[in-house]
Amino acid sequence: MYKKEDHRSLFELSKKLLKEEAIPEKAEAIKEVANLHKVIVYHEWKYYVQDDPVISDFEYDHLYKRLEALEKAYPDLIGPNSPTQRVSNDLTETFASVEHLVPMLSLANSYNEEDLNDFDTQIRKLALLDEDTAIEYCVEPKFDGGSIALVYERDVLVRAATRGNGTLGEEMTNNARVMKSIPLEADFSSKGIHKVELRGEVVIRKDIFEKMNAARAEQGLTLFANPRNTASGGLRMKDPKEVAKRGLEAFIYQMSYVADEAENDKMDIFKYHNDTIELLGKLGFKIPIKEKKVCKDIKEVHEFIQKWQGLREDYPYEIDGMVVKVNDLAIQEKCGYTSHHPRWAIAFKFKAKQATSKLLNVEYQIGKIGSVTPVAKLEPVQLAGVTVSSVSLHNEDFIKSKDIRIGDTVLVERAGDVIPYIVKPMDDLRDGSETAIVFPRQCPVCSTPLERAESEAAWRCVNYNCEAQVLQRMIFHVSKDAMDIDGFGKSYIERFYELGWLKNLADIYQLDYEKIAALEGFGKKSAANLEKAINKAKNNPVYRLLHSLSIHHLGKKVSKLIAAEIDHVLDLQYKTLDNFTEIKDIGPVVAENIIAYFSNPDNIALLKEMEGLGVNLRQTEKDRPKAISADAPLIGKTILFTGTLQQMGRKEAQSLAEANGAKNISAVSSNLNILVVGEKAGSKLKKAQALGTVQILSEQEFLDLIR
Ligand code: IVH
Repeated sequence: MYKKEDHRSLFELSKKLLKEEAIPEKAEAIKEVANLHKVIVYHEWKYYVQDDPVISDFEYDHLYKRLEALEKAYPDLIGPNSPTQRVSNDLTETFASVEHLVPMLSLANSYNEEDLNDFDTQIRKLALLDEDTAIEYCVEPKFDGGSIALVYERDVLVRAATRGNGTLGEEMTNNARVMKSIPLEADFSSKGIHKVELRGEVVIRKDIFEKMNAARAEQGLTLFANPRNTASGGLRMKDPKEVAKRGLEAFIYQMSYVADEAENDKMDIFKYHNDTIELLGKLGFKIPIKEKKVCKDIKEVHEFIQKWQGLREDYPYEIDGMVVKVNDLAIQEKCGYTSHHPRWAIAFKFKAKQATSKLLNVEYQIGKIGSVTPVAKLEPVQLAGVTVSSVSLHNEDFIKSKDIRIGDTVLVERAGDVIPYIVKPMDDLRDGSETAIVFPRQCPVCSTPLERAESEAAWRCVNYNCEAQVLQRMIFHVSKDAMDIDGFGKSYIERFYELGWLKNLADIYQLDYEKIAALEGFGKKSAANLEKAINKAKNNPVYRLLHSLSIHHLGKKVSKLIAAEIDHVLDLQYKTLDNFTEIKDIGPVVAENIIAYFSNPDNIALLKEMEGLGVNLRQTEKDRPKAISADAPLIGKTILFTGTLQQMGRKEAQSLAEANGAKNISAVSSNLNILVVGEKAGSKLKKAQALGTVQILSEQEFLDLIR
């Protein structure tokens, strides 16, 4: 799609455009808008199709905002396929029914080498080839998401539809337009193609899916079942703006219709399926470029599929098999179709990832902050090559919403690296012997009554000294994320705990290594290694120690922010709520938890004991954030943004302020120096006006100030 020199010139053009500030005269604006289109389309392709961005997100946003600003100044320059027009402003999907140009068929399935050989033999018969002619196949992943058909006419995306019933699909053009891996325009005409229909699969990356669900769990929302449902459900959402938020991507795997101006079939400009896909890649579509392979015969196909069986888990997208397609389009045509599937292609299905099993019992695990997690114990079942015998039920609401009961036969799924989960109970299989899961109201370990905050999904044991919590806190303390004590894992902690050697975090730093060396399975060497790792951890930067204390909501990021503000961990005893909330990104909830932790004399004693044992509690200069020049325009000022900004996003404005010496704070108080007011500013503006001590700036005034 882009030649080597294009990359450089587009990159340089981007850098040049990034410097533009004033709104130019119309003639200049026309040129600049065209250039902005070019570079933004390029950067979207690099980012969404190639996964290889060449400019920062900040710079991309800047180019995008610049285009928006020019379009605002000259509305007649807004083309329907401008990058800013991906999210239509008020149109929502109506999902009209549309007829596919070519029916969207299914695929026949195969499960082993024998099935593949039968398929190969069949092809030879259909194409009237003799027995020893090798047939070339193109093999690609079988993406597991929602299928779509895209129609381009005169190089413009004019229609997108879901599969529907195969003949009629649901039109969802506006939803497709927000997916940045789908070009709004593509240069088919240079190939003499006037109208084309493409087939593809809309998918979501597994890690994005996991993050989305983690966020939903935190907000107490119902979780998405799996990446496939999230993608195919996302396709059908009513509001394209919501679709945009889901991070969906489309892999294109087929050209199903190619015609010239007179609607004559032009498929004959291609000789191989692989050529059609390669062309799509060059035109900017996301194709399985590194994943596909042209295999010289069916034996090589099988080997390639075997290789993918092993790669599948680590592949960032869900796939449920591989698709084997005859590469030669002339042979494809000879093979033809059944009413259900093409005869020239077959899916090879990987081992099942769903299975049913019986739910035997529910156990309750206590986390490091006391959250009670129900865990279903299942009759062991094989799922995609792994034995599964316990599955998290997350929280009480999850159990209730799915109406899961003890004795139920449940459908379990393990998708890729996604941890196994219960899709649903099979209520048709109930015989009346199933019993309700009664969520405990007391801690199963220490019997303290459980509590549940209104905003949270989890019930918690509030006894800080609950044995289960103490143990979990120690396990977390030594873990990679926290103090990162090499080689000191869960099993050691549990063993030393049972031996009575570990009662609190300080004990970790006063282990008797001679006794450890004498334990079965240890020895002098491993005891010495453990000692070395523990001594090393004593010198960790203080943010690690803060994070390792298991204070509710105090994650790594906030620990770093707080560490940057102190000289010594024990200084935190004297901080007030305002001191904390003035720090950007620190809210009152975590602040209160920190205050509670440092007001407890037991915790102070524990930290002092740790310090006495050599654990570092002092902030070192090298861990502090970099200094900003003393003449920066906002040096020493606190700042807060409120309302909707027009020229930039909130985050961008905050980083800009920070880079110019200001400190972002999150609330209006007497400590606030500057309030920048965007559109529709509300109570914060009123409060600042009432205080009378706050400098109030418009967005433009703020920009002028830092320029
Ligand atoms: S080719 C004429 N290639 O699998 C049918 N399909 O059972 C041609 N799918 O819903 C289909 N990845 O959306 C083909 N690389 C791939 C695919 C793929 C996923 C889906 C497709 C359809 C289902 C067919």
